Amino acid sequence: MKFHIMTLFPGMVMNALSESITGRAMGSGAISVEAVNIRDYANNKHNKVDDYTYGGGAGMLMQADPVYLCYEDITKDLSAPPRVVYLTPQGSTYDQNMAKEFSKEEDIILLCGHYEGIDERVLEEIVTDYVSIGDYVLTGGELAAMVIVDSVSRLCPGVLSNSDSPDVESFSDGLLEYPQYSRPEVWHGKRVPEVLLSGDHAKVDEWRHEMALVRTMDRRFDLYKKYVLSHPDEFIPKKSRRKKRKKD
Ligand code: ADE
Repeated sequence: MKFHIMTLFPGMVMNALSESITGRAMGSGAISVEAVNIRDYANNKHNKVDDYTYGGGAGMLMQADPVYLCYEDITKDLSAPPRVVYLTPQGSTYDQNMAKEFSKEEDIILLCGHYEGIDERVLEEIVTDYVSIGDYVLTGGELAAMVIVDSVSRLCPGVLSNSDSPDVESFSDGLLEYPQYSRPEVWHGKRVPEVLLSGDHAKVDEWRHEMALVRTMDRRFDLYKKYVLSHPDEFIPKKSRRKKRKKD
């Protein structure tokens, strides 16, 4: 999978993605990431890429031409027009299903905006998906693009080693993941739940599923409701295990 990131801050994305699992995946060739500087396509003396908005209002807008020229340069050698994801708070909210969908692409362009956004005309011509990573406003699309590269690349073949790759993870069956424990058996007076030491795999699976349900009910009631509706025959615990917060 090849990620092409259109940005004014290539160093920001490349520095972060060169670390840890994404860095290793780039090293092994399981993914490739290139950050292309939109400013290199400015075609003016001061490499200026922004200008005032027609109709007035505060703030500057990224101009259409540098964005389009950058897009043309990235796509000139590709066999088919790729998906172009514009990172914006006005997009559809990103989730694991979108990550799965994106991971099937051969090439994907992630377009990062800055200032007040990008001239609408170039967006109309090149963008296929408008994606937000949540209902808050970032200073630019770079952090959102990194979120997408990270979450998509871990779904690509050869990126996660067996030890990185969980059997079960949050969202894989519509539930959050159950709590997990490692050594020591007692920490700060808290024991690892007895069932996990029993060696009874069926019981362990049952306990984990129940904990996943309870956790989802406590933390993401929206997901819990969806799960209950789509599993009408399953016995579902109705009681929260959340500890009440002590009042000061
Ligand atoms: N750019 C600015 N805010 C954003 C957000 N919430 N998601 C994606 N891109 C953004």
